[in-house]
Amino acid sequence: MEVIITKDSSSASAKAADLVAKAVRTKPDSVLGLATGGTPVELYKRLINMHKNEGLDFSKVRTFNLDEYIGLKPTDKQSYNFFMRENFFDHVNIPRENINIPDGMAADIPGFCSEYEEKIRRAGGIDLQILGIGSDGHIGFNEPTSSLASRTRIKTLTQKTVDDNARFFNGDKSLVPLHVITMGIGTIMDAKTIVLLAFGANKAEAVSKMIEGPVASMVPASALQLHPRAKVFIDRAASGKLVNTGYYDWVFERKPEWQKDI
Ligand code: PGA
Repeated sequence: MEVIITKDSSSASAKAADLVAKAVRTKPDSVLGLATGGTPVELYKRLINMHKNEGLDFSKVRTFNLDEYIGLKPTDKQSYNFFMRENFFDHVNIPRENINIPDGMAADIPGFCSEYEEKIRRAGGIDLQILGIGSDGHIGFNEPTSSLASRTRIKTLTQKTVDDNARFFNGDKSLVPLHVITMGIGTIMDAKTIVLLAFGANKAEAVSKMIEGPVASMVPASALQLHPRAKVFIDRAASGKLVNTGYYDWVFERKPEWQKDI
């Protein structure tokens, strides 16, 4: 796992945006795995800017979103479908038919989940997966004790995630759907490259367990220790509980020229 600690969330988002842009320029039909939540918003803003001002072309890109609430329609403002259109898709040139988001209104959820997996396979797998991390250590909506080999399926949110996400539902916890569709940890681990972003002191505990704790289903993000190309961008506040920060900075500052991808 490569750990990159930046002075603030803005510089982390800038570095991650450069990586995504480079991937799209190198392979215009890249398959991107996309995340929602507060964390990737600035990353999307920067990619939109690059599209508008630097000609970054998404016309061949295909996307798969990590997760969606069950029972919310794409027109519901709190759905991840709505979030993605508002924060990214409405502002770049990804063809509608190349966009895949779990369908929270699917009549047959297990059937939908198997088809989603099949679609990812048919697309050749995910080239680059963007991730946030929950304060309970989840990735996607894979809550603690999720199987580290899990595939796309239904999950039930923890109280902690409901509390964290109530801010998107006018602070009303009772409005947060308890059930979700999420790519599994196994699905996420199949991505060729993973870029995880985490900002703020609220994430420091989860970040420290993910990077320096044992691999354990109690901390789903710790599975990334087994991924050969996982990059973690965190701000100083999110790095607050790490032991080895000096080493991560040392490695980043001394990267050989040929190894620098950002
Ligand atoms: P956040 O959520 O970006 O809104 O903090 C991250 C996550 O739950 O994965």
